[in-house]
Amino acid sequence: MLFHLLLLSLGTLLCHGLNQGGDASNLIVNAIVAKNNISVAECWAIEPGFAASNVTGTVGDLTLHLGNIENAVYIIIPNDHGKPNNGGLHNGAHSQWVFALTGGVNVSFPDAPGGFSVSAGGIFISTDVQGTSTNGHQSIWAAGSIFIQAPFPDGVAVNHTVIANHACEEK
Ligand SMILES: *[C@@H]1O[C@H](CO)[C@@H](O)[C@H](O)[C@H]1NC(C)=O
Ligand SMILES: *[C@@H]1O[C@H](CO)[C@@H](O)[C@H](O)[C@H]1NC(C)=O
Ligand SMILES: *[C@@H]1O[C@H](CO)[C@@H](O)[C@H](O)[C@H]1NC(C)=O
Ligand SMILES: *[C@@H]1O[C@H](CO)[C@@H](O)[C@H](O)[C@H]1NC(C)=O
Repeated sequence: MLFHLLLLSLGTLLCHGLNQGGDASNLIVNAIVAKNNISVAECWAIEPGFAASNVTGTVGDLTLHLGNIENAVYIIIPNDHGKPNNGGLHNGAHSQWVFALTGGVNVSFPDAPGGFSVSAGGIFISTDVQGTSTNGHQSIWAAGSIFIQAPFPDGVAVNHTVIANHACEEK
């Protein structure tokens, strides 16, 4: 009983911290997807949700499986005297996770309203690869940001439920 209460409160914490709403037992992330050749945001709940670890070293901690990852890349945005780095309009290089370690990014869309911001420690998913979206999206990274791109094997996105047809923070 105590254990369940503990899990519940941890889940609530996660919901207010890491997550931006929705079911506290799932990781909630913004995803860039292509629809009818246009890049837009969706809000995804990653499946399956968090579970208490029984693995040595993390027993009892909430863990969530990110699925398989292939040829992940660690990327450093130049400092450039503190100027944000605008990569211009582009398609996602791969269908992939993006983990912001430091800095942060603002994502926007040339052909659709909305967008989202990810700060240091945040996560998003990008799936609008070449051939799926004519103009792609725009990412403006803070100077000196460090992030990891972690492609899904064979381009197949991690299991998820679409919980909104817009960014997670939009109502
Ligand atoms: C997307 O648009 C491009 C050029 O505008 C076109 O060549 C392509 O066939 C379109 N793809 C789809 C899936 O509609
Ligand atoms: C740990 O949990 C997994 C998944 O629920 C289960 O298959 C496995 O048997 C458990 N291992 C131990 C040591 O309890
Ligand atoms: C992202 O947008 C916010 C709000 O408009 C702004 O304060 C911040 O400087 C932007 N970050 C970057 C890297 O452009
Ligand atoms: C995704 O879900 C499907 C259907 O439930 C399942 O067969 C598959 O193993 C899951 N994949 C992963 C990576 O969890």
